Amino acid sequence: MARLVLLWCFFIFTATSVNLVCSRSPQKDHTALFVFGDSLYDPGNNNYIDTIIKANYYPYGETFFKYPTGRFSDGRIIADFIAEFANLPLIPPYLQPGNHEFTYGVNFASAGAGALSETYQGFVIDLKTQLSYFKKVAKLMRKELGDAEATVIFSKAVYLINIGGNDYISFLTSNSTVFQSSSKQEYVAMVMGNLTETIEEIYKKGGRKFGFLNMGSLGCVPSMKALAPGNTTGSCFEQVNEIAKLHDAALPKALEELETKLVEVKYSMHYLNISYAERRNNPEKYGFKEANIACCGSGPYRGMFSCGGRRGVTKYELCSDPNDYLFFDSDHLTEKACKQIAQLMWSGTPNITGPYNLKALFEA
Ligand SMILES: *[C@@H]1O[C@H](CO)[C@@H](O)[C@H](O)[C@H]1NC(C)=O
Ligand SMILES: *[C@@H]1O[C@H](CO)[C@@H](O)[C@H](O)[C@H]1NC(C)=O
Ligand SMILES: *[C@@H]1O[C@H](CO)[C@@H](O)[C@H](O)[C@H]1NC(C)=O
Ligand SMILES: *[C@@H]1O[C@H](CO)[C@@H](O)[C@H](O)[C@H]1NC(C)=O
Ligand SMILES: *[C@@H]1O[C@H](CO)[C@@H](O)[C@H](O)[C@H]1NC(C)=O
Repeated sequence: MARLVLLWCFFIFTATSVNLVCSRSPQKDHTALFVFGDSLYDPGNNNYIDTIIKANYYPYGETFFKYPTGRFSDGRIIADFIAEFANLPLIPPYLQPGNHEFTYGVNFASAGAGALSETYQGFVIDLKTQLSYFKKVAKLMRKELGDAEATVIFSKAVYLINIGGNDYISFLTSNSTVFQSSSKQEYVAMVMGNLTETIEEIYKKGGRKFGFLNMGSLGCVPSMKALAPGNTTGSCFEQVNEIAKLHDAALPKALEELETKLVEVKYSMHYLNISYAERRNNPEKYGFKEANIACCGSGPYRGMFSCGGRRGVTKYELCSDPNDYLFFDSDHLTEKACKQIAQLMWSGTPNITGPYNLKALFEA
């Protein structure tokens, strides 16, 4: 206990700034947030590994943080808004040096990561490694707080997981034999198997409340549209959409099975397939002017992964106002879009987020 810091500092968000606030003791009865997954949730873990899949340079981070944090967005990402809605401080990346304070949770997500270790192997922190980091944190917290207190934190905590998109993109765009030796159905089953195993391992450490999103029209993001074979104006990469649909059919089944198998498990799933399609089909209704072309990037739809000019391609275009756009770069949402999705995850009705929304999970 003596090793725990005396001052507890956290960030308070306002419309225009982030303020660091310190108090004598941690907020009582808070619910911690642990995050696993890919770039949708990565708050900067990739800053600390040797990879080109980074976003720690201009113009990433410009609208909110005013500096590049490693988030693949002009500002905050979904996980940041969920933390804000739950009255938690910003949840830091696990690999951020000097971060030993885990009672509010920690974020393990890594841009490019997949459920299968072959996905962008060597450039990402795969799901299995993220899980091993979580186990380290669990061990440390048990040592520092004692088994009883740590167990309360882990069983009250909410675990956000988003994984699979990179596995499917690799499957369809890489010619390596690993990705070519199975059918779409078998491949989705492998992804689902690894996701399920990860949930079971978190459960063993006390985890009970899980939050997911499904995949939606992955083949319609700017990068996929730019790669779509038979590239006619506006067409999506249909093969990617097909495998995403298989994933979206398998995920609810896997979660229902886990719910019956693992006592006390509750989960939330946001239907990104619906919320995303609505915004693509009717951008003005949601305050966007452009839902097909990214704000930052190059080539058709600005779908080339070149935002910032540091990944081999140095030239890129940048829009004047990210708030007009659904996508900030070739594959990632703007802060404005992230906030809208986070709000639906937090308090959406069962037709968009169910069987529980995240607010209900945090309050349970
Ligand atoms: C996931 O899949 C890979 C194969 O790609 C395997 O090596 C790994 O151990 C699996 N398990 C988990 C929990 O990630
Ligand atoms: C696989 O792709 C790489 C680079 O994308 C290329 O150099 C190689 O020739 C391809 N191999 C086959 C068998 O198509
Ligand atoms: C794909 O379509 C877009 C929009 O019609 C066009 O600008 C682009 O040049 C096409 N790309 C390829 C590789 O054919
Ligand atoms: C969205 O996905 C869910 C399951 O993941 C599925 O039941 C539903 O039919 C899908 N809706 C649309 C409009 O694609
Ligand atoms: C879900 O239901 C609410 C009302 O309960 C409605 O306003 C909303 O449009 C519905 N959304 C969808 C995607 O059907």
